[in-house]
Amino acid sequence: MILSIESSCDDSSIAITRLKDKKLLFHKKISQDAEHAQYGGVVPELAARLHAVTLPKILEEAKSYFSQLKAIAVTNEPGLSVTLVEGVSMAKALSVALNLPLLGINHLKGHICSLFIEAETLFPLDVLLVSGGHTQLLHVTNLDEIKLLATTMDDSFGESFDKVGKMLGLPYPAGAIIERYAKKGNAKRFDFTIPLQGTSSSLLAFSYSGLKNQVRLCIEAHGNLDEQTICDICASFQRVAVAHLMQKIKKAYKERSVEHFGVVGGASANLYLRGELEAFCASKKAKLHTAKMEFCSDNAAMIGRCAVEAYHKDAFVAVADLKVRSSSK
Ligand code: KG4
Ligand code: ZN
Repeated sequence: MILSIESSCDDSSIAITRLKDKKLLFHKKISQDAEHAQYGGVVPELAARLHAVTLPKILEEAKSYFSQLKAIAVTNEPGLSVTLVEGVSMAKALSVALNLPLLGINHLKGHICSLFIEAETLFPLDVLLVSGGHTQLLHVTNLDEIKLLATTMDDSFGESFDKVGKMLGLPYPAGAIIERYAKKGNAKRFDFTIPLQGTSSSLLAFSYSGLKNQVRLCIEAHGNLDEQTICDICASFQRVAVAHLMQKIKKAYKERSVEHFGVVGGASANLYLRGELEAFCASKKAKLHTAKMEFCSDNAAMIGRCAVEAYHKDAFVAVADLKVRSSSK
């Protein structure tokens, strides 16, 4: 079995994954959403201190598996360095104390592996990664060969939901709340412009800061917002935010075939986005792969699944050599 730890942002999570059949034997996650909500976003120092309290608590619950462990895995990049350090320190201590090899796992590869929990991997795979920190379109030949097809030039997809939510006075993280409001709203009421439409046809990139500013101007123009207007802003914003993703995805695959398409990351829980991706995949005769809702946002189960692959490749790292990196190599 592998014990895996995730602390790259504001979720403390530990999982135990069985090597032979990838079964998830234990998985617990403690989210810090409530603690950060009052600040309108994640406060790294506070997040690190909370990990220092919650990670050991979860670890105690996984103690009965210690004697059967074969390796310790931990997210070491990318993420907030002060929070990554909490998980990495714990992993190193466990590795030394239990005399077990150590695996450093890339958080983004972890998100890709959220599609394969308790299942076999499936490659080649094209992936849309939409989280609070990333908006990436990837061609994944395998976990060691990943080509970045497009990324964001400024805010990420999930971050734009959080920022619009903040402007509307909604608590952090606002993604799921905006989706809920959007269901009751008129998505055509506000005619926000889809970002990067007029740019050179060769540019494959995402941008969300302009859309966020359009929403800001709309909110300012309204003064006091009634409930229906908030719902209409959410619906109109979500429609355009997703339309931007879809426009660029369609452009990326205009002359490219795709057989398997996955969507991962916290914002991949958005059902409106999933619906649009379903339609795109149907048009390309591709299969859409989604993670179970509980594995969309940050969690150690996906890190453990990725670690099973790393374990079989002997990708172990010495305790002294495992470094924390805020961005990917
Ligand atoms: O993957 P994740 O848990 O953390 C990062 O690695 O960033 O993603 C969190 C992000 C937040 O920005 C949150 O607002 C967004 O995912 N999110 C959503 C939805 N659920 C979570 N965005 C849009 N619609 C949702 N239903
Ligand atoms: Zn993440």
